[in-house]
Amino acid sequence: MPLDLTFRPRRLRATAAIRDLVAETTLCAQDFIYPLFVHDLPEPVPVESMPGVSRNSLSSLINECQAAAGVGIRAVAIFPCLDKSLKDPAGSAAFDAKGLLPRAIAAVKSALPGLLVVADVALDPFTSHGHDGILTPNGRDLANDPTVEALCRLAVLEARAGADIVAPSDMMDGRIGAIRRALDAAGFENIPILAYAAKFASAYYGPFRDAVGSQHAPISKATYQMNPANVREALREVALDEDEGADIVMVKPAGPYLDVIRAVKEHATVPVAAYQVSGEYAQIHAAARLGWLDYRRTRDESLLSIKRAGADIILTYFAREFAGELSKSIEKMSQPPS
Ligand code: PBG
Repeated sequence: MPLDLTFRPRRLRATAAIRDLVAETTLCAQDFIYPLFVHDLPEPVPVESMPGVSRNSLSSLINECQAAAGVGIRAVAIFPCLDKSLKDPAGSAAFDAKGLLPRAIAAVKSALPGLLVVADVALDPFTSHGHDGILTPNGRDLANDPTVEALCRLAVLEARAGADIVAPSDMMDGRIGAIRRALDAAGFENIPILAYAAKFASAYYGPFRDAVGSQHAPISKATYQMNPANVREALREVALDEDEGADIVMVKPAGPYLDVIRAVKEHATVPVAAYQVSGEYAQIHAAARLGWLDYRRTRDESLLSIKRAGADIILTYFAREFAGELSKSIEKMSQPPS
C-alpha cells in the first residue's frame, strides 16, 4: 500500500534535468575573480602547497589570463612575488613605478584590455618582515596612519599602471576613505574600491604566504586582522568601509566564514565578495591526493556553498579550471537530450 502523501519532495530530485531546473543556486564564470601570482623570472615555478598554481613569468601570466578570459572569466587579481633582495622594512619597492606589479598590470591590460585587473593594496609582498604595512618604532605593531599614507601611494600607482579595481587587503583603520580621496585627487574617481572589509587573522593563508614569500618566520597579524570569534565586529567593519566609500566589500576566508558572508549580505547594500583562500584550496587538493575526498565534487560543493551563503563574487584559485569545465558542460547540454 503506497503511503498517502501530498508532498513527496523526492519528485523534484528524480533526474539531473529536474534537479537543475529547481536549483536555487547556480555558479557561472562571471561570478569569479581569478587570483594569479607573478614573479620576475623567465619561467613559471609551481607553488608546492598549491597544486596547479604557479608563480608566473610575465609571459605565462598573459597565457593564464588569455585562458581564463577564453572560458568567460571577467576579472583577475594579480599578486607579485618579489625577489628577497628588493624587500625592506618600509616596503619601498611598492612605490617603484617600473616595479614588477605595475609592469604586470600594464602587460595584462595591453594584451587583454577587456579583462578586469584587480590590484591588492597592501605592503606584504614588499616588506622584509612580511607584514602588510610599516612597523612602529618598537617593531611590535603596525603604525596605522603612516601605513595608510603608503597604501594611498600604492593604490594611485596601481591605478596609473592600468588597474581597473583596487583592493585594500591590509585592515588598517580609515584606509578606505583615505584611498578614495587619494584616487579622486589623482583623477581616478571612477576606479572602484573592493574593500577586504572583514578579513580574519586566519591560519588558512599559509600557502599564499609561501607563494609570495611573505613568511620568513611565523608572524601574527592579529593586531590588525580580525579575531575569528567575531561576526558583529565584521558588520561594524563593513559599515565603516561602506561609509568611507567602498564599492564592494569582501569577507575572507570564505568557507569557514559562511555565517559572516550571510550576515554581511543581509546588512550591506553594496555587492559582497568572498575569498576562498589558499588554505581552503590546498586542503581540498591534499585530501583528494590522499584519496579521502572526491576532488571535483568537493571543489564544486565548496564554491556552491559560498555562493549560497550570499557571495555575489568569489575569488578562488579554482576559477579557471571550474569555468573551463562549466563551458564544456554547457556545450554538452546544448545538444538535444538523448
Ligand atoms: C595580504 C594578503 C593575504 C592574502 C591576500 N592578501 C595574506 C595575509 O594576510 O597574510 C591571502 C590569500 C590567500 O591565502 O589565498 N595582504
